[in-house]
Amino acid sequence: MITGKSKVIVIDRCYHGSVDETFATLDETGNTVAREGNIGAPVSLSETTRVVEFNNLAAMEAALKHSDVAAILMEPAMTNVGIVLPESGYLESVGELAKKYGVVWIIDETHTISVGAGGMTALHNLKPDFLTIGKAIGGGIPTGTFGMTTEIAAAIAKKIDREVIDTGGIGGTLAGNALSLAAMRATLSEVLTETAFVKMIELGDRWSDGVAAVINECNLPWHVNRLGARSEYMFLNRAPRTGAEAASVGDFELEQYLHLRLLNDGFLLTPFHNMALMSPYTTESDVDAHTEAFRKMCVELTS
Ligand SMILES: Cc1ncc(COP(=O)(O)O)c(C=O)c1O
Repeated sequence: MITGKSKVIVIDRCYHGSVDETFATLDETGNTVAREGNIGAPVSLSETTRVVEFNNLAAMEAALKHSDVAAILMEPAMTNVGIVLPESGYLESVGELAKKYGVVWIIDETHTISVGAGGMTALHNLKPDFLTIGKAIGGGIPTGTFGMTTEIAAAIAKKIDREVIDTGGIGGTLAGNALSLAAMRATLSEVLTETAFVKMIELGDRWSDGVAAVINECNLPWHVNRLGARSEYMFLNRAPRTGAEAASVGDFELEQYLHLRLLNDGFLLTPFHNMALMSPYTTESDVDAHTEAFRKMCVELTS
């Protein structure tokens, strides 16, 4: 609406919730196509979306040069295909490219808030035009929110006629409801505090160190990726650079086994990936008990 452009750039293998236009990938010839399982897209994704690989600035600039792009929507670190961290300077350069081409830069901090209060945007002093976040900031109460610069807010306001604001696609019956707002206030002021983050990140490191030591001891070609209070191991012997690379080492059967095996020892992993997220109530002994169970499993797997 603000830019008059029709397309959004997303990162290959991204996830931003059930948004048809972002469930896109590149086919072998580099065309934007719907991802396997995206069965509801109302129009061909080549009309709405351009896909680029994470950590690839040349591809980002090439996509922007088409001059049909309204916005870049991205997580500052990929989290939904396993963790893929940005290379040094990548995020700052994406921000500069967005400015250069007059494109709105949207950062999705829904998961990357695990690095600390303010997420990666604060950690790297990034200056996106928009920021979206949800889930964790409501402490279990369904919620989501988005922030924007005053310039963007003014550009939107200029196009909104208050008498017909309800037809603008903003809001909905429960938007801004008191329960969600109270949950966000309580979570941000009393649960996800800076003090809690210090402890959660220390525990995240303890979890990663334990898992990495076992991987090393058992000589497994696996790697632990860290994102503050969140950690995850992947079936690749180094950190992946792109979503496609992370996706290519997924092993559904092995994951099913690991999850069931650890569940038998009392550890419920996320339903996909091999991810752990420390809470303000996680203890060192919880982490060490996981390391021991993980060790037992890896020794069994490799002997
Ligand atoms: C990065 C990211 N953004 C947004 C969402 C929110 O999606 P939804 O509201 O559909 O749960 C998710 C959900 O997992 C997510 O991983």
